[in-house]
Amino acid sequence: RQQKLATILKLAPVVPVVIIDDVNHAVPMARALVAGGIRTIEVTLRTPAAMDAVRAIVAEVKEAVVGVGTVLRGGQLETARLAGAHFAVSPGTSPRLLDAADDNELPLLPGVATASEAMALLERGYEHLKLFPAVPVGGAKLLAAWASPLPQIHFCPTGGINLSNAIDFLKLTNVVCVGGSWLTPADKMARGDWAGIEQLAREAAALK
Ligand code: 3PG
Repeated sequence: RQQKLATILKLAPVVPVVIIDDVNHAVPMARALVAGGIRTIEVTLRTPAAMDAVRAIVAEVKEAVVGVGTVLRGGQLETARLAGAHFAVSPGTSPRLLDAADDNELPLLPGVATASEAMALLERGYEHLKLFPAVPVGGAKLLAAWASPLPQIHFCPTGGINLSNAIDFLKLTNVVCVGGSWLTPADKMARGDWAGIEQLAREAAALK
């Protein structure tokens, strides 16, 4: 599972974190991201449409590698796996979520905000972690400080990252990609501005 996650996280410098209110937006949004050069997509489980959106993208946008985000409960992993998701992301961890992840073949990218949380997950075999919320908890300086004592861990920082500060993270040796919602802003999603989203994806894809 860690190997699968490594491959997925290397596909693009930015993982778009998306909130889908209307399931009909899922496929055109995913096509726009892929056309702009971003194949990895994290659909957050924050709206009733989210799981149907995952199913629609998996069925219709073959190039996309779809994950579910905002996973809070273990049961969501199996629902996501059955929906065809390739990976899962959580803002943090709980003992029950980690137990469920042990029993599920869907790779999980769990969120951490402290060195102790990172060490606990390393003990459980996790070598890919999300730093969340990246900028408020210390940003690129925090990750640079962790690179020497925690060299085994590869991070995908998320939270407060945008086109202008993404490079501060991407240049670090322990950062494999960043996550962010700036590629799919609510106004562009609501208007169906897929050309605008494709352009944002193109700028993000050029980052590394
Ligand atoms: C989130 O929780 O929505 C993600 O971490 C994205 O954060 P961002 O909106 O700051 O990019």
